Amino acid sequence: MIPQNRVIILTGATEGIGRATAYTLAEAGCQLALVARNTQTLQALADELNTVKHQAVAIPTDMGDTAQAAALATKTVEAFGKIDVVINNAAIGVRDRTLDLQEEQARRIMDVNYFGPVALIQAAIPHLRTNPEGGLIINISSIVGRRAMPGIAGYCASKGALEKMAESLRIEVKADNIRVSTVYPGVTSTNFNDNSLGDSQEGRGRVSGVPPERVARAILKTIRHERRDVFITLFDRAFVTVSMLFPWLMDMLLSRYFA
Ligand SMILES: NC(=O)c1ccc[n+]([C@@H]2O[C@H](COP(=O)([O-])OP(=O)(O)OC[C@H]3O[C@@H](n4cnc5c(N)ncnc54)[C@H](OP(=O)(O)O)[C@@H]3O)[C@@H](O)[C@H]2O)c1
Repeated sequence: MIPQNRVIILTGATEGIGRATAYTLAEAGCQLALVARNTQTLQALADELNTVKHQAVAIPTDMGDTAQAAALATKTVEAFGKIDVVINNAAIGVRDRTLDLQEEQARRIMDVNYFGPVALIQAAIPHLRTNPEGGLIINISSIVGRRAMPGIAGYCASKGALEKMAESLRIEVKADNIRVSTVYPGVTSTNFNDNSLGDSQEGRGRVSGVPPERVARAILKTIRHERRDVFITLFDRAFVTVSMLFPWLMDMLLSRYFA
């Protein structure tokens, strides 16, 4: 898909990967429906992008509320007249071992990372269907959606759920000319860990990973080439491949690492 003039819903647009993606897509000539909860930060980002000719609207939304998530589709069509691409990027983590996971937090994670994105997809599909060029849904998962890690089970489960839903959806909407891609970032330098719920202090702080701009470029490439599964680094791809082929070996390596 040629990115120019595409109308894109981008959730989690104000920080980290989402913010880098907003700049990258604006630069590529996309029209953006920017989504996050913090109204001020979101509007400031839209204003900043609009000073350089790009067209962006801020739509403050809590993706943990399915009614709000679904309303994004109508609000975007009201602003731009169509939807070409939906990028489900907003998510939160929860840092707690399974035994300590509190139900309220586990449910909040599923609401934001799974039920909200599903509600948005369901609301967007009728608009993507009537788009003569079809549409593209991009879910930002994680390599830990493919192979869970200890200490973040609630988060891994939410990403795994999103990924499985996308596998079904891809086949279900194929005839409607709607394509579904999943992007699997590995460790990325954002404030994600500090923004995570949970009591555990293990693994907090800004980690040193790939810059979010690199993930943003991969997302732009995903729009261009509509690949099914997108990994950011060779290490991420190798980690997932080894995990799939030799799960027992990965169990052993992770047990040693986290001992
Ligand atoms: N960072 C990593 O190492 C890493 C690795 C693999 C995958 N990922 C995935 O990449 C995506 C982006 O992560 P990131 O590291 O950029 O996260 P981040 O820096 O914590 O940014 C999260 C963004 O989502 C928004 N957000 C959070 N909760 C929301 C809600 N309930 N409703 C609407 N917006 C919400 C935040 O804005 P507000 O707070 O204003 O709402 C913010 O814009 C996520 O799907 C994450 O799972 C990240």
